Amino acid sequence: MTPRLKSSKTLVKSAPNPYLPIPMRIERIHVETDDSMLKTFELAFVHEEDTTGFNFIPGQFCEISVFGKGEAPFGIASSPVEPGPLKFTVNKTGVLTTALHSMEESDIVGLRGPLGNGYPLDKFAGHSLVIIGGGFAFTTLRSLTHYVLDPHNRSHFKGITIVYGARQPGLLLYKEDLAAWERREDISVHLTIDKAVPEWTKHVGFVPDVVERVAPSSKGTYAVICGPPVMIRFTMPKLTALGFPPERIYSSLERRMKCGIGKCGRCNIGPYYVCKDGPVFSYAQLEGLPQEY
Ligand SMILES: Cc1cc2nc3c(=O)[nH]c(=O)nc-3n(C[C@H](O)[C@H](O)[C@H](O)COP(=O)(O)OP(=O)(O)OC[C@H]3O[C@@H](n4cnc5c(N)ncnc54)[C@H](O)[C@@H]3O)c2cc1C
Ligand code: FES
Repeated sequence: MTPRLKSSKTLVKSAPNPYLPIPMRIERIHVETDDSMLKTFELAFVHEEDTTGFNFIPGQFCEISVFGKGEAPFGIASSPVEPGPLKFTVNKTGVLTTALHSMEESDIVGLRGPLGNGYPLDKFAGHSLVIIGGGFAFTTLRSLTHYVLDPHNRSHFKGITIVYGARQPGLLLYKEDLAAWERREDISVHLTIDKAVPEWTKHVGFVPDVVERVAPSSKGTYAVICGPPVMIRFTMPKLTALGFPPERIYSSLERRMKCGIGKCGRCNIGPYYVCKDGPVFSYAQLEGLPQEY
Protein backbone atom coordinates (compact mmCIF):
# COMPACT_ATOMS: atom_id res chain seq x y z
CA MET A 1 0.00 0.00 0.00
CA THR A 2 1.34 3.47 -0.94
CA PRO A 3 2.03 5.45 2.23
CA ARG A 4 -0.11 8.59 2.52
CA LEU A 5 1.88 11.81 2.16
CA LYS A 6 1.77 14.06 5.20
CA SER A 7 -0.10 17.27 4.48
CA SER A 8 2.05 20.41 4.09
CA LYS A 9 0.47 21.61 7.34
CA THR A 10 2.27 18.93 9.30
CA LEU A 11 5.53 19.34 7.37
CA VAL A 12 5.91 23.13 7.54
CA LYS A 13 6.62 24.49 11.01
CA SER A 14 5.47 28.09 11.09
CA ALA A 15 8.21 30.65 11.79
CA PRO A 16 7.80 32.57 15.06
CA ASN A 17 5.94 35.83 14.59
CA PRO A 18 8.61 38.58 14.82
CA TYR A 19 6.02 41.08 16.07
CA LEU A 20 4.97 38.90 18.99
CA PRO A 21 6.74 39.73 22.26
CA ILE A 22 7.76 36.94 24.61
CA PRO A 23 7.08 37.38 28.33
CA MET A 24 10.03 38.22 30.59
CA ARG A 25 9.98 38.46 34.37
CA ILE A 26 11.79 41.30 36.10
CA GLU A 27 14.19 39.42 38.39
CA ARG A 28 16.03 42.39 39.84
CA ILE A 29 16.07 46.16 39.55
CA HIS A 30 19.25 48.06 40.30
CA VAL A 31 19.29 51.85 40.62
CA GLU A 32 22.42 52.97 38.76
CA THR A 33 22.66 56.70 39.33
CA ASP A 34 22.32 59.09 42.29
CA ASP A 35 19.39 60.84 40.60
CA SER A 36 17.56 57.46 40.16
CA MET A 37 16.90 58.30 36.51
CA LEU A 38 18.76 55.21 35.35
CA LYS A 39 17.83 51.73 36.45
CA THR A 40 19.11 48.39 35.25
CA PHE A 41 16.40 45.76 34.79
CA GLU A 42 17.41 42.13 34.87
CA LEU A 43 14.92 40.13 32.81
CA ALA A 44 14.49 36.36 32.97
CA PHE A 45 12.65 34.21 30.43
CA VAL A 46 9.26 33.10 31.72
CA HIS A 47 9.18 30.09 29.38
CA GLU A 48 12.25 27.89 29.14
CA GLU A 49 11.61 27.24 25.42
CA ASP A 50 12.03 30.95 24.63
CA THR A 51 15.72 30.73 25.58
CA THR A 52 16.29 28.39 22.61
CA GLY A 53 17.72 30.37 19.74
CA PHE A 54 18.10 33.55 21.80
CA ASN A 55 21.73 34.17 20.89
CA PHE A 56 23.05 37.69 20.73
CA ILE A 57 26.29 39.58 20.31
CA PRO A 58 27.30 42.86 21.98
CA GLY A 59 25.71 45.87 20.29
CA GLN A 60 22.36 44.26 19.56
CA PHE A 61 19.13 45.55 21.06
CA CYS A 62 15.63 44.37 21.97
CA GLU A 63 12.20 45.97 21.84
CA ILE A 64 10.75 45.99 25.35
CA SER A 65 7.03 46.46 25.83
CA VAL A 66 4.88 47.41 28.80
CA PHE A 67 1.25 46.43 28.44
CA GLY A 68 -0.92 49.43 27.61
CA LYS A 69 2.06 51.80 27.26
CA GLY A 70 3.93 50.69 24.15
CA GLU A 71 7.27 49.39 23.07
CA ALA A 72 10.76 50.88 22.68
CA PRO A 73 14.27 49.73 21.73
CA PHE A 74 16.98 49.22 24.37
CA GLY A 75 20.55 48.03 23.90
CA ILE A 76 21.41 44.75 25.64
CA ALA A 77 23.71 45.76 28.49
CA SER A 78 24.59 42.23 29.56
CA SER A 79 27.09 40.20 27.62
CA PRO A 80 26.60 36.84 25.90
CA VAL A 81 29.39 35.53 28.15
CA GLU A 82 27.49 36.46 31.34
CA PRO A 83 25.20 33.79 32.71
CA GLY A 84 21.80 34.74 34.12
CA PRO A 85 19.14 37.27 33.18
CA LEU A 86 19.42 39.80 30.35
CA LYS A 87 20.28 43.32 31.52
CA PHE A 88 18.84 46.56 30.16
CA THR A 89 19.67 49.99 31.55
CA VAL A 90 16.80 52.41 31.08
CA ASN A 91 16.80 56.20 31.26
CA LYS A 92 13.51 57.57 32.52
CA THR A 93 12.58 59.94 29.73
CA GLY A 94 8.97 59.48 28.58
CA VAL A 95 5.82 57.36 28.64
CA LEU A 96 7.23 53.84 28.34
CA THR A 97 10.39 54.37 30.35
CA THR A 98 8.41 56.03 33.18
CA ALA A 99 6.08 53.02 33.23
CA LEU A 100 9.08 50.67 33.34
CA HIS A 101 10.62 52.65 36.20
CA SER A 102 7.43 52.23 38.22
CA MET A 103 7.46 48.43 37.82
CA GLU A 104 8.65 46.03 40.49
CA GLU A 105 10.53 42.79 40.73
CA SER A 106 8.47 39.79 39.48
CA ASP A 107 6.39 42.02 37.16
CA ILE A 108 6.15 40.87 33.53
CA VAL A 109 7.24 42.81 30.43
CA GLY A 110 7.32 41.83 26.74
CA LEU A 111 10.48 41.43 24.69
CA ARG A 112 11.28 41.09 20.98
CA GLY A 113 14.79 40.38 19.84
CA PRO A 114 17.69 40.20 19.65
CA LEU A 115 17.59 42.80 16.86
CA GLY A 116 20.14 44.69 14.79
CA ASN A 117 23.67 43.84 13.73
CA GLY A 118 25.87 44.31 16.82
CA TYR A 119 29.58 45.19 16.91
CA PRO A 120 31.78 43.61 14.20
CA LEU A 121 33.64 41.23 16.52
CA ASP A 122 35.33 39.44 13.61
CA LYS A 123 36.89 42.71 12.47
CA PHE A 124 37.90 43.66 16.02
CA ALA A 125 39.64 40.30 16.63
CA GLY A 126 43.42 40.58 16.57
CA HIS A 127 43.30 44.36 17.13
CA SER A 128 43.42 46.80 20.02
CA LEU A 129 40.21 48.55 21.05
CA VAL A 130 39.51 52.03 22.37
CA ILE A 131 36.04 52.11 23.92
CA ILE A 132 34.72 55.64 24.44
CA GLY A 133 31.45 56.36 26.23
CA GLY A 134 29.61 59.32 27.66
CA GLY A 135 26.68 59.58 30.05
CA PHE A 136 24.21 56.74 29.96
CA ALA A 137 25.23 55.58 26.48
CA PHE A 138 27.53 52.96 27.96
CA THR A 139 25.03 50.08 27.86
CA THR A 140 26.22 48.08 24.85
CA LEU A 141 29.80 49.21 25.58
CA ARG A 142 29.45 47.37 28.89
CA SER A 143 28.36 44.29 26.95
CA LEU A 144 31.32 44.63 24.59
CA THR A 145 33.82 45.17 27.41
CA HIS A 146 32.62 42.09 29.30
CA TYR A 147 32.84 40.12 26.09
CA VAL A 148 36.44 41.05 25.24
CA LEU A 149 37.62 40.61 28.85
CA ASP A 150 36.12 37.13 29.17
CA PRO A 151 38.90 34.57 29.79
CA HIS A 152 37.91 32.68 26.61
CA ASN A 153 38.09 35.82 24.47
CA ARG A 154 40.75 38.05 25.98
CA SER A 155 43.66 36.56 23.98
CA HIS A 156 41.82 37.38 20.71
CA PHE A 157 42.20 41.10 21.37
CA LYS A 158 45.26 43.27 22.01
CA GLY A 159 45.22 46.41 24.19
CA ILE A 160 41.90 47.58 25.61
CA THR A 161 41.48 51.23 26.60
CA ILE A 162 38.30 52.71 28.05
CA VAL A 163 37.51 56.41 28.30
CA TYR A 164 34.18 56.97 30.01
CA GLY A 165 32.76 60.21 31.35
CA ALA A 166 29.72 61.60 33.11
CA ARG A 167 28.80 64.97 34.54
CA GLN A 168 29.35 63.82 38.15
CA PRO A 169 30.68 60.63 39.78
CA GLY A 170 27.15 59.63 40.83
CA LEU A 171 26.02 59.57 37.20
CA LEU A 172 28.51 56.95 36.06
CA LEU A 173 26.86 53.61 35.30
CA TYR A 174 28.07 50.15 36.37
CA LYS A 175 30.27 51.32 39.24
CA GLU A 176 31.10 47.78 40.35
CA ASP A 177 32.22 46.81 36.85
CA LEU A 178 34.31 49.96 36.51
CA ALA A 179 36.04 49.27 39.85
CA ALA A 180 36.75 45.66 38.80
CA TRP A 181 38.13 46.76 35.42
CA GLU A 182 40.34 49.38 37.09
CA ARG A 183 41.90 46.63 39.23
CA ARG A 184 42.88 44.58 36.16
CA GLU A 185 46.27 44.97 34.51
CA ASP A 186 45.14 44.02 31.01
CA ILE A 187 42.90 47.06 30.46
CA SER A 188 43.51 50.79 30.76
CA VAL A 189 40.52 52.60 32.28
CA HIS A 190 40.16 56.40 32.24
CA LEU A 191 37.12 57.80 34.03
CA THR A 192 36.31 61.46 33.91
CA ILE A 193 33.77 63.93 35.28
CA ASP A 194 32.98 67.37 33.93
CA LYS A 195 33.90 69.42 37.01
CA ALA A 196 36.17 68.63 39.97
CA VAL A 197 34.59 67.51 43.25
CA PRO A 198 36.54 66.90 46.48
CA GLU A 199 36.44 63.08 46.60
CA TRP A 200 37.32 62.58 42.91
CA THR A 201 40.97 61.69 42.12
CA LYS A 202 40.66 60.69 38.44
CA HIS A 203 40.38 62.73 35.24
CA VAL A 204 38.44 65.98 35.21
CA GLY A 205 37.19 67.36 31.90
CA PHE A 206 35.15 66.39 28.89
CA VAL A 207 35.57 63.05 27.16
CA PRO A 208 37.12 64.48 23.94
CA ASP A 209 39.86 66.22 25.96
CA VAL A 210 40.59 63.04 27.91
CA VAL A 211 40.84 61.08 24.66
CA GLU A 212 43.39 63.66 23.48
CA ARG A 213 45.28 63.43 26.81
CA VAL A 214 45.32 59.62 26.86
CA ALA A 215 46.25 59.61 23.15
CA PRO A 216 45.66 55.92 22.39
CA SER A 217 47.70 54.64 19.46
CA SER A 218 45.63 54.24 16.31
CA LYS A 219 47.98 51.57 14.94
CA GLY A 220 46.01 48.36 14.54
CA THR A 221 43.26 49.81 16.72
CA TYR A 222 39.49 50.16 16.37
CA ALA A 223 37.62 52.90 18.23
CA VAL A 224 34.03 52.40 19.40
CA ILE A 225 32.24 55.53 20.52
CA CYS A 226 28.77 55.95 22.04
CA GLY A 227 27.45 59.03 23.76
CA PRO A 228 25.53 62.26 23.36
CA PRO A 229 25.87 63.79 19.86
CA VAL A 230 27.88 66.74 21.21
CA MET A 231 30.44 64.39 22.76
CA ILE A 232 30.75 62.45 19.52
CA ARG A 233 31.03 65.65 17.47
CA PHE A 234 34.01 66.88 19.51
CA THR A 235 35.67 63.46 19.89
CA MET A 236 35.73 62.64 16.17
CA PRO A 237 38.38 65.28 15.27
CA LYS A 238 40.54 64.04 18.18
CA LEU A 239 40.38 60.50 16.83
CA THR A 240 41.15 61.72 13.32
CA ALA A 241 44.14 63.68 14.65
CA LEU A 242 45.36 60.49 16.36
CA GLY A 243 45.26 58.76 12.97
CA PHE A 244 42.02 56.73 13.19
CA PRO A 245 40.50 56.37 9.70
CA PRO A 246 36.67 56.46 9.44
CA GLU A 247 36.50 52.73 8.70
CA ARG A 248 38.07 51.98 12.09
CA ILE A 249 35.66 54.13 14.11
CA TYR A 250 32.31 52.55 15.03
CA SER A 251 29.26 53.95 16.77
CA SER A 252 25.78 52.77 17.69
CA LEU A 253 23.03 55.08 16.46
CA GLU A 254 19.79 55.85 18.25
CA ARG A 255 16.81 56.49 16.09
CA ARG A 256 13.05 56.47 16.58
CA MET A 257 11.87 52.95 15.68
CA LYS A 258 8.66 51.04 15.28
CA CYS A 259 8.94 47.51 13.82
CA GLY A 260 12.65 47.00 14.61
CA ILE A 261 12.99 44.51 11.74
CA GLY A 262 13.38 46.61 8.60
CA LYS A 263 9.72 46.60 7.51
CA CYS A 264 8.12 49.94 8.38
CA GLY A 265 10.76 52.39 7.11
CA ARG A 266 10.54 54.50 10.27
CA CYS A 267 14.24 54.48 11.10
CA ASN A 268 15.98 55.05 7.80
CA ILE A 269 19.06 57.22 7.30
CA GLY A 270 20.04 57.45 3.64
CA PRO A 271 20.02 53.88 2.29
CA TYR A 272 20.15 52.27 5.75
CA TYR A 273 17.52 51.04 8.16
CA VAL A 274 19.09 51.67 11.55
CA CYS A 275 17.15 48.76 13.08
CA LYS A 276 18.33 46.19 10.57
CA ASP A 277 21.55 47.46 8.93
CA GLY A 278 22.59 48.99 12.28
CA PRO A 279 22.42 50.23 14.92
CA VAL A 280 26.21 49.81 14.68
CA PHE A 281 27.85 51.65 11.78
CA SER A 282 31.38 52.66 10.89
CA TYR A 283 32.00 56.31 10.16
CA ALA A 284 33.04 55.27 6.65
CA GLN A 285 29.44 54.09 6.16
CA LEU A 286 27.99 57.29 7.61
CA GLU A 287 30.14 59.72 5.62
CA GLY A 288 28.05 61.68 3.15
CA LEU A 289 24.73 60.78 4.77
CA PRO A 290 22.34 63.43 6.14
CA GLN A 291 23.59 64.46 9.60
CA GLU A 292 20.36 63.37 11.29
CA TYR A 293 21.98 61.03 13.76
C1 LIG B 1 19.02 50.92 19.08
C2 LIG B 1 18.59 51.75 20.27
C3 LIG B 1 19.07 51.42 21.53
C4 LIG B 1 18.65 52.15 22.64
N1 LIG B 1 19.14 51.79 23.87
C5 LIG B 1 18.72 52.44 24.96
C6 LIG B 1 19.17 52.04 26.25
O1 LIG B 1 19.97 51.10 26.40
N2 LIG B 1 18.70 52.73 27.33
C7 LIG B 1 17.83 53.78 27.18
O2 LIG B 1 17.43 54.35 28.21
N3 LIG B 1 17.38 54.18 25.99
C8 LIG B 1 17.81 53.54 24.87
N4 LIG B 1 17.35 53.93 23.64
C9 LIG B 1 16.42 55.08 23.55
C10 LIG B 1 15.02 54.63 23.93
O3 LIG B 1 14.51 53.71 22.97
C11 LIG B 1 14.07 55.83 23.98
O4 LIG B 1 14.53 56.70 24.97
C12 LIG B 1 12.66 55.37 24.27
O5 LIG B 1 12.00 55.14 23.05
C13 LIG B 1 11.88 56.35 25.08
O6 LIG B 1 10.57 55.85 25.21
P1 LIG B 1 9.50 56.63 26.05
O7 LIG B 1 8.14 56.11 25.66
O8 LIG B 1 9.84 56.55 27.49
O9 LIG B 1 9.69 58.11 25.57
P2 LIG B 1 8.69 59.00 24.68
O10 LIG B 1 7.51 59.30 25.53
O11 LIG B 1 8.46 58.33 23.38
O12 LIG B 1 9.62 60.25 24.43
C14 LIG B 1 10.19 61.02 25.47
C15 LIG B 1 11.17 62.03 24.89
O13 LIG B 1 12.32 61.38 24.35
C16 LIG B 1 12.44 61.67 22.95
N5 LIG B 1 12.91 60.42 22.32
C17 LIG B 1 12.36 59.21 22.45
N6 LIG B 1 13.07 58.29 21.74
C18 LIG B 1 14.09 58.95 21.17
C19 LIG B 1 15.16 58.55 20.33
N7 LIG B 1 15.36 57.30 19.92
N8 LIG B 1 16.03 59.51 19.92
C20 LIG B 1 15.87 60.79 20.31
N9 LIG B 1 14.87 61.21 21.11
C21 LIG B 1 13.99 60.32 21.53
C22 LIG B 1 11.08 62.11 22.52
O14 LIG B 1 11.12 62.95 21.39
C23 LIG B 1 10.61 62.85 23.76
O15 LIG B 1 11.16 64.13 23.84
C24 LIG B 1 17.75 53.23 22.50
C25 LIG B 1 17.27 53.56 21.23
C26 LIG B 1 17.68 52.82 20.13
C27 LIG B 1 17.16 53.18 18.78
S1 FES C 1 11.95 50.47 12.74
FE1 FES C 1 10.79 49.71 11.07
S2 FES C 1 12.23 49.74 9.46
FE2 FES C 1 13.43 50.20 11.20
